[in-house]
Amino acid sequence: MAGNGITIAHIGDPQLGFADDEHREAKYREDLVRMERVIDAVNALRPDVALISGDMTHRHADIRRDWPRLLQLFKVRVVVTPGNHDVLQRLSREAVADFNAIFGHDYEALDVNGWRIIAGNTQYWLDTDYAEGKARYEEWLKHELGQAASLDGRVILAGHNAPFAYRPDEDDGYENCPKSLRFKRLEAYAAAGARFYLAGHMHRLVVRGTGGLTILSAESLSLNFDDRPFGFRVFKVADDFSFSWNFQQV
Ligand SMILES: [Fe+2]
Repeated sequence: MAGNGITIAHIGDPQLGFADDEHREAKYREDLVRMERVIDAVNALRPDVALISGDMTHRHADIRRDWPRLLQLFKVRVVVTPGNHDVLQRLSREAVADFNAIFGHDYEALDVNGWRIIAGNTQYWLDTDYAEGKARYEEWLKHELGQAASLDGRVILAGHNAPFAYRPDEDDGYENCPKSLRFKRLEAYAAAGARFYLAGHMHRLVVRGTGGLTILSAESLSLNFDDRPFGFRVFKVADDFSFSWNFQQV
C-alpha cells in the first residue's frame, strides 16, 4: 500500500583519505571529521533511509578502520552501495567478503513507505574473476526488477555508478556501464517502472534523464572535481512522483 512519499539522505562518496601517500593520513582524519558531521546532520533530519553511494575509504585496506564505529552512530536505516574503492575496480571475492563483514551485504532491496529501493553493486558490471558472485547478483537483480514491475513506478534504484555520465549512447569509460550491458540494463529499469536512480562515483553534481528515469549523482564528501562544496542531498519524493533533491552543506 502506498504511503506518504519517502525521504532519503543521499550521501556521496565519503572516500576517507582521498590523497597521495604523503598526505593521506591527514586527509583521512579531515574526511573522518566531516563524515561525523554528516551523520549528526542526518540524525537531526531523521530521513526514512540514509543511502551512502559507495567508496567508503580511498584505500580498501582502511575500510575496517572506522566504518564499524561510524555505522553505529547512525540513528536511521543505512543502505550502502559498494564502489570501486570498496570491492575493487576488478571486483574480487575477498574484497566483497571484507565489505560484507562490515556492511552486511553488497546489494539489497527494501520496502519503505510503499517504495521499493533496489540498491545494487555496480562493480559487477565489469569483468571479475568472481564469476559465481556475478551470476548470483544477476539472478537477484533480474528477480528484483521483475517483482518491481508491479509497484506502479514506486521504484528507486541505487548504485555507485550511474549507467551513463552524459548520454545513454556515450563510449565506454571509467564513469559508466559498459555499452554491451548498458542498454539491456536501461531497458530492464524501464520495464521495472523505475523512476529514479541515485548514484555517486563522479565526484561532481550530475543530473541526467532517459525515458522515464531521472539519474541523480551526488557531490562527494572527499574531493569534488567541479569545486562544489561538501555536503549531502536530501531526496524527497511524493506519491505523485514530484521530487526535490536539495543540497545540505556540512
Ligand atoms: Fe568510485
